[in-house]
Amino acid sequence: MCGIIGYVGRQRALPIILDGLKNMEYRGYDSSGVAIKETSGKIKAIKAVGPLLNLEEKISDNNFEGSTGIGHVRWATHGGVTEKNSHPHMDCKRKIWVVHNGIIENYQELKAQLLKKGHKFQSETDTEVLAHLIEEKLKTNNYQEAVRLALKEVRGTYGVAVLNQDEPEKIIAARNFSPLLLGVGEGECFVASDASAILKHTTKVVYLDDGELAVLTPKGHAVYDLGRNLRDKKTHHLEWSLEKTQKNGFPHFMLKEIFEQPEAIANSIRGRLLPEEGLVKLGASEDLKKVKRILIAACGTAYLSGKVGEYMLEEYAGIPVEVDLASEFRYRKPVFQKGDAFLVISQSGETADTLAALREAKEKNVLTLGVVNVIGSTLAREAGLGVYQHIGPEIGVASTKAFTSQLTILALLTILFGRSRDMSVITGQRIVKEIKKIPHLIQTVLKQDAAIKKLAKKYNHFNNFLYLGRKYNLPIAYEGALKLKEISYVHAEGYGAGEMKHGPIAMIDENLPSIFIVPQDSVYEKTISNIEEVRARKGPIIAIATEGDKKITRLADDVIYIPKTLEMLTPILSVVPLQLFAYHFGVARGYNVDRPRNLAKSVTVE
Ligand code: AGP
Repeated sequence: MCGIIGYVGRQRALPIILDGLKNMEYRGYDSSGVAIKETSGKIKAIKAVGPLLNLEEKISDNNFEGSTGIGHVRWATHGGVTEKNSHPHMDCKRKIWVVHNGIIENYQELKAQLLKKGHKFQSETDTEVLAHLIEEKLKTNNYQEAVRLALKEVRGTYGVAVLNQDEPEKIIAARNFSPLLLGVGEGECFVASDASAILKHTTKVVYLDDGELAVLTPKGHAVYDLGRNLRDKKTHHLEWSLEKTQKNGFPHFMLKEIFEQPEAIANSIRGRLLPEEGLVKLGASEDLKKVKRILIAACGTAYLSGKVGEYMLEEYAGIPVEVDLASEFRYRKPVFQKGDAFLVISQSGETADTLAALREAKEKNVLTLGVVNVIGSTLAREAGLGVYQHIGPEIGVASTKAFTSQLTILALLTILFGRSRDMSVITGQRIVKEIKKIPHLIQTVLKQDAAIKKLAKKYNHFNNFLYLGRKYNLPIAYEGALKLKEISYVHAEGYGAGEMKHGPIAMIDENLPSIFIVPQDSVYEKTISNIEEVRARKGPIIAIATEGDKKITRLADDVIYIPKTLEMLTPILSVVPLQLFAYHFGVARGYNVDRPRNLAKSVTVE
């Protein structure tokens, strides 16, 4: 997720652009850049890696006087975190400059065509292709038409703003699946990824829809569809505070990120599913075919995604898997065998224990893989093969969208490994087909947010909880307990439902609620028996159950339903009510759920 901004009007563009980028830095902080159309007519551009401060320092000894400009804060998706890969990107003649939020899926084929026509590229990014494509179209079309035709050749997502040295007082912007809005001022126009960037200058906004192109000048704006038809767009008046706009209207980043999960999963699987062949595209190397055992190491929530992955890979790929806490792995004497693959999972890519485990495996010349969100992070650079999560920054300390994205990518890896071994085409097609539905299925679960909020209030006076599950949902029991602990500082314990009778059942009474994850899966009846054992001892019961399950209503005090899906994919759905329960529980106790006490978003110390 990146942030873009554009300004054209009667004021100096630079301060407006920089201020807007500052308010969008939460969207991406790998690097930033601006391009300003100077009064002299030339476009000046400056970029810097790292926080926006670095850009401001570079700019300080330059005076940008122009009144038209664009800017960008980058969350790297294609191409490492380097100055060359920072936006804005330009064409060969340094006339066309582009800032972009999104992913151009067909950029390689477009780039190959442009290279053949003699275009020279400076970066590894998908975005730069757009600048050269517009340059190519400009040879036989006017500016607006050139941008329109270029976008019609693009497959993927974009929120984009374009500056053209030859048309000084015009910015062309367009949107496809990445948010973009126009700001309407007196004798000036703005475009930005979100309102937080322009709220200080205007509260009159026009939201662009997918497939729309806008032309901005100091006199006003016009919006067209990609078929050149003029669109009649409504102007809205923003009431949000600055902080609220950064959270897209949500009270906390954690809740925003829980609700972002459908989009996050869609981005994690984008361009990676081959439904016809029942295969996935992960840029995997031939080495993976020779893998005989997979060792997984990670921390916290990432570790628990690995525990779910263990069930997936063993059941559907027939590969033995061992999962270790990274903080343990590096101190025991792991015995590596020929054919081992070492998989590390980390949202930040900077967790010290996970990095240490990765280095231990590399020392022993083991094939290493990484599932990571932050492009260019230490882990992304050091792991042999990498699968990026593409979910944008996760700001809330409690990991939510990163976790469901990790589970989804582990399902993709299961297909990858499985189909290179005994998994049939039919099975592969069935799993791929079901993975495609997951974003929509999560939407269904999110619709129960109000009911879950009520439950969090109803149970808010309890100070101890048991979370219970079996098989694929045992790690979800641990994850649900971890969410409650880290957000509301209440004691919660994840436990195997089948293990209750070996001790913990002694604790059950009316003061200890149990949260059972009990979808209609291969261990449903067994878990129902465990629920009956708890009920017989008057323990309050909340159940996460499959839609349509009537039996559970007779056994549990409260039920939250999730849609039916493949057993191996239920964890992606069953964790969502537990995320919401922990969130509302912590809020009801008055805690800062985005910044829980004693915790850091990335534990870069051992
Ligand atoms: C989860 O909610 C926690 N924030 C924490 O356990 C986290 O998952 C762990 O520190 C691993 O972080 P990573 O994914 O960035 O490596």
